[in-house]
Amino acid sequence: MALTDIGYSSSAREMSPAVRLERDGDIALIFIDNPPVNASSVAVRQGLAAALAEVSGDRGISGVAIIGAGRSFIAGSDIKEFGRALPPPELPEVLAAIEACPWPVIAAIHGAALGGGYELALTCDWRIATPDAVVGLPEVGLGMIPGAGGTQRLPRLVGLPRGIELITSARRVAAPEALALGMIDALAQTDLRAEAIAFLKSRGPGKRLASRMIPPAASSAEIEAAANAALAKGKGRDCVAEAIKAIRLIETTPVEEALALERAAFQTLRVGEEASALRYNFFAERAAAKPPVAADPLPVALVGVVGAGTMGAGIASVVLAAGLKVILIDSNEAVLARARGSIEKTLGDLERLGKLGKASAAERLAGLETGDDLARLAGADLVIEAVFEDIAVKTEVIARLGAVLSDKAILATNTSYLDIEKLAAASGRPDRFLGLHFFAPVPRMKLLEVVQCAATEPAVLATGFALAKTIGKLPVPARPGEGFIGNRIYARYRAQCEYALDDGALPQEIDAAATGLGFAMGLFAVSDISGLDIAWRLRQSKAASRDARERYVTIPDAVCELGRLGRKTEAGWYDYDRAGKPVPSPAVTELVKANAARHGRPAPEAKAISGAIMGAIVNEAALLVEEGIARSAQDIDVVLVNGYGFARHKGGPLFQAARLPPEEVVAMVDLAEQATGWGFRRGDVEALLAGLRASN
Ligand code: 3HC
Repeated sequence: MALTDIGYSSSAREMSPAVRLERDGDIALIFIDNPPVNASSVAVRQGLAAALAEVSGDRGISGVAIIGAGRSFIAGSDIKEFGRALPPPELPEVLAAIEACPWPVIAAIHGAALGGGYELALTCDWRIATPDAVVGLPEVGLGMIPGAGGTQRLPRLVGLPRGIELITSARRVAAPEALALGMIDALAQTDLRAEAIAFLKSRGPGKRLASRMIPPAASSAEIEAAANAALAKGKGRDCVAEAIKAIRLIETTPVEEALALERAAFQTLRVGEEASALRYNFFAERAAAKPPVAADPLPVALVGVVGAGTMGAGIASVVLAAGLKVILIDSNEAVLARARGSIEKTLGDLERLGKLGKASAAERLAGLETGDDLARLAGADLVIEAVFEDIAVKTEVIARLGAVLSDKAILATNTSYLDIEKLAAASGRPDRFLGLHFFAPVPRMKLLEVVQCAATEPAVLATGFALAKTIGKLPVPARPGEGFIGNRIYARYRAQCEYALDDGALPQEIDAAATGLGFAMGLFAVSDISGLDIAWRLRQSKAASRDARERYVTIPDAVCELGRLGRKTEAGWYDYDRAGKPVPSPAVTELVKANAARHGRPAPEAKAISGAIMGAIVNEAALLVEEGIARSAQDIDVVLVNGYGFARHKGGPLFQAARLPPEEVVAMVDLAEQATGWGFRRGDVEALLAGLRASN
């Protein structure tokens, strides 16, 4: 069936290295062939322009179909070209040639028609797509607006309110919904090429340009409501406001003029800071997801999960949601029953959000078995251990698993901090052992640290990466080391927040410094949500082994001693008002002031707080790369954006640091060092950032 991998015949002529032209009776077929996803690069644009010039002057044809060779239609403009001047011809010029073509043109879509790719499709007279295709305008997700007519043509097909929703949310729409919304005109069932030609012939010779259409009626109130909802969601983001402004030109401005204004806004945004941060992120995430060694993954159909607590249940949910079978083991029946309830709820939520594909929650849940006997895992391909975070408990479970699993089974641990090489040794199969470090809440957090131990086989590592993709997680490679990448950096960030507190800054001031840098919430607000008692117990357990020279801040203990354990006790670092909103706490303020008065240091200014936080993060990142625990600065930014709530549209802390003058970064590390005192180790920050500076 020609639905997934489309090819052209040997008679197709080359218009450019990325475009071919073929005839099928009186229909001209223009193939875009720019692997892997047919991004609309300069070679594609040149080839299209040449092909359109030829077919427009050819009296022997009656219609044109544009079709993607390989696995996709056109995934959008080539994002790599966006940091500099765009080589001609630019996309609007090519699209003008489609409109001017005397014959009707159909876009035959499979795979993805996104961004400039979907704008090209919108310029054609008709659009037909395979049922598994996706279409949409994701430019706002890249800090821009559609720059080739998307804001003018899409709302003319679907109405202004829906157009505002689709463009500002950057939502990708599956073909069946796209058909219902009017984004495409037909679905191809078996043979895209043949059905596109048949569709074109059935519609006769006339043109049907979206740019000339009157949009479906909508009241001003409906348009206002859609605009306000989008502005509220995209608060502070220029691209959202600009997208709405461009779309609303439809109400007031002739289309040619509106297209020029849209292009001008696109050109300004494309070279702006947010767009370059989001582009950086796009490529950093794709690079992170590549395993550090080349090998074919092993097949995984049945997954065992051991430990049915919050993490185990979360892991089981996402594995089931992907259509794999799961056996969940826990020795406590009540814990298992609770896990089943939470898995049912997660699958139900995913079904409601349309994230289970064609399957229902009930179908996915049928793939779940539970039990209390590890021996039931004898047939599993991969087992993920997610029991209590304690070295003795984990070592025992892993040793028992090593004995009951089949020889070829892979064993993974979800430990966050423990000595993973010790666990690998306990498994009795260190070559088939790795770390899969998930983040809570598992169904929501995209990040998965995939930890390669000394003896992990390449194919086993590749299987970890492949599983991540299957279950919709973003894998980042890490090597053994306490806290791997994310938690190790977070520990340094936390320490700087506590030093600032010790020096007399208030939690709300420190949180404001962190959110100013790009964290979604400050450390103290987050701690109140997770509860202060777990970290309190951990500090108590480590008290005896702590080096007396280490700077230790006592305020967190004092806050816990007041019974302020976070939101669950309605008091922590903050007080909570009747609506549950955090407000500054007079009790905590008093503790902080009294502590500062005792040692008499001046409270740090906002700039010094954020400088020390940034300095600590960048320095620790440099150490992580030097020690080989993290592969690159980009990987670390991917971890902080996808696991720790750092704003995607700011790229990541290291991306931000690389934009600063080097001496400013050194001064930040100095601040972190002064605040830390004994035990601070400096990393080669300049070497870490040099690569980022060169590529941005
Ligand atoms: N430009 C350049 N490279 C691109 C690209 C693009 N638009 N889209 C994908 N690629 C590259 C990826 O970097 C990756 O390269 P690599 O193998 O060297 O790492 C390769 O193509 C494959 O991509 P994925 O790993 O993401 O493959 P998937 O099959 O998982 O996903 C996809 C395919 C859904 C098409 C996904 O790649 C995607 O979402 N691409 C981006 C789409 C997009 O945002 N387009 C809008 C661009 S902006 C625009 O068009 C402006 C216009 O308005 C003028």
